Amino acid sequence: MSERTLVLVKPDGVSRGLVGEVISRIERKGLTLAALELRTVDRATAEQHYAEHDGKPFFGDLVEFITGGPLVALVVEGTRAIPAFRQLAGGTDPVEKATPGTIRGDFGLEVQFNLVHGSDSAESAEREIKLWFPNL
Ligand code: TYD
Ligand code: MG
Repeated sequence: MSERTLVLVKPDGVSRGLVGEVISRIERKGLTLAALELRTVDRATAEQHYAEHDGKPFFGDLVEFITGGPLVALVVEGTRAIPAFRQLAGGTDPVEKATPGTIRGDFGLEVQFNLVHGSDSAESAEREIKLWFPNL
């Protein structure tokens, strides 16, 4: 059964030239692109996107970082797209949790600069796709 997930190549991934690498891994996994846009996100959208983390010690830095430069937002589609992209991304901490072979494990060093976002559940995916691509 096909499903959709919201993926971000965060500003660090864009500035490091890893957009093609991430999209290539998504496509090679067998998933397809339903939407794709380069954009610089405003603070209100960033705060809504990460609302579950509001109040945590890293929230301010996270919002600063995600609004600090252009990112690539994608809607990715396919069988089990939500867990499949989380598998491609690897764990949140690129060294302690993500394993080699994952995007974060192969390219990341610091938790704040972990390159990609992927929705963590069907509920999150629905909410995030509405936030980023209201016309989809
Ligand atoms: P989280 O939703 O826990 O991770 P994931 O992106 O794997 O779903 O956290 C959201 C982002 O917040 C995470 O990608 C990087 C940042 N973050 C920090 O900067 N410090 C932290 O201690 C945590 C847990 C997350
Ligand atoms: Mg998350």
